[in-house]
Amino acid sequence: MRPLDLDSYARDGFLVQPDFLSAADCDALQARAAELVAGFDPGPVRTVFSSHDQSHARARYFRESGGAIRFFFEEEATDQPAAFALNKIGHALHDLDPVFDRISRQPKIADLARMLGFVRPLLLQSMYLFKQPHIGGEVGWHQDAAYLHTTPATVTGFWIALDDADRDNGCLMALPGAHRGPLRERFHERDGELITSTLDPTPWPETEPVALEVRRGSLVVLHGLLPHASAPNRSSRPRQAYALHMIDGNADYSTDNWLQRPGLPLRGF
Ligand code: FE2
Repeated sequence: MRPLDLDSYARDGFLVQPDFLSAADCDALQARAAELVAGFDPGPVRTVFSSHDQSHARARYFRESGGAIRFFFEEEATDQPAAFALNKIGHALHDLDPVFDRISRQPKIADLARMLGFVRPLLLQSMYLFKQPHIGGEVGWHQDAAYLHTTPATVTGFWIALDDADRDNGCLMALPGAHRGPLRERFHERDGELITSTLDPTPWPETEPVALEVRRGSLVVLHGLLPHASAPNRSSRPRQAYALHMIDGNADYSTDNWLQRPGLPLRGF
């Protein structure tokens, strides 16, 4: 692995490591995701997501996905087959699927966690992101710590491009240095519902966003407080990626986080 530029990570809140994941591992993730999609029966799930009075079932399908492998459709998808209509698969691929497990727990990811200062790294969440040609949706500006909250904040994103990602197909965007600002929001459980609460109304800084244009196999490390986003994919090219989120087991995991795994304890490497 190339040496880590920890100074630029501290300054910017993100780090790009080109050629991080081997082409063989990129191929293996894409092939495995295609198999999972081929084995997925979208009928019941589409029913859950399409009818308006199914909000409880929809919320449960999402909440249980923290300890499962579940499939989520693009909002703009109409009646395309799942292979062209999914937004993502989540959120415990790394614990429940052997291919994702092996690739997520390979030694160089453990080394990276150690170099970033993790004492007791725990693999919390994994997502296979499709960002489909033409209909891949926008992801608005957010901080990952709003969703995966620990005290102190430790969540760190490991985002791996499985296709070349650029402005045309909706690459990551980030506000360099803005991870030094406060956590603005939390998405969490209250009285059985998932809600978004404002913690700090400070607007995002006026910093010019940077487009993280990267080649297939590149890793982007994202600090949990770094505001980031991605534009819709209006191109005819896919922009698939694999995103893994890690927390430190020495921090307190908030009991009202949306992601709870009562039957599946978190594991490290
Ligand atoms: Fe994110």
